[in-house]
Amino acid sequence: CRIVVLISGNGSNLQAILDSCDDNLQAEVVGVISNKPDAYGLTRAHYSEVDTSCVIVHKDESRAEYDARLIDAVEKYQPDLIVLAGFMRILTDDFVNRYLGKMINIHPSLLPKYPGLNTHQRAIDAQDSEHGASVHFVIPELDAGPVILQAKVPVYQDDDATILAARVHEQEHAIYPLVVKWFSLGRLALQNNQAFLDGQLI
Ligand code: GRF
Repeated sequence: CRIVVLISGNGSNLQAILDSCDDNLQAEVVGVISNKPDAYGLTRAHYSEVDTSCVIVHKDESRAEYDARLIDAVEKYQPDLIVLAGFMRILTDDFVNRYLGKMINIHPSLLPKYPGLNTHQRAIDAQDSEHGASVHFVIPELDAGPVILQAKVPVYQDDDATILAARVHEQEHAIYPLVVKWFSLGRLALQNNQAFLDGQLI
């Protein structure tokens, strides 16, 4: 399974996937693409000798124009799976539909709770007793694709968003590589907007 990972920042989830692919001969990260030239994840990719590309937003460029260039960069790698790992751009419907069933994302909340940004602070403000992360197939609606796997963490009374984010991140690094592995083994599918593992509705 040829994997392309899209990032914008630190890339700790990318790292977890790179590390797990070392042990999984079915899966190989063949390219890492960033929209930010200074994303630390690019350095991580270099350490792992993975090819990188940077697709920076041009001034006055439309989303469609940007995504057309992004498709060119992605297609160069002929991937079977696109992994969004902290890629901080909303993708056009055209892009998403092109890779429907072949693109996954990790979101730092227990979806359908808290799509969008600032999820940790929102969970604290709502006095939730648990929070977490979700890996889901990407569909055109933002953070709304069918969930494949979630990890829960407790929220403690004196948590701030930074502490809570760190607790969630740790879980992300466990569940994202696992989902990538399932996909690489052909165990996952998206059909009629529903996620299946081994043919069973998740
Ligand atoms: C993670 O919290 C992920 O849930 C969200 O973006 C963050 C990326 O972190 N989509 P990293 O760059 O993988 O460290």
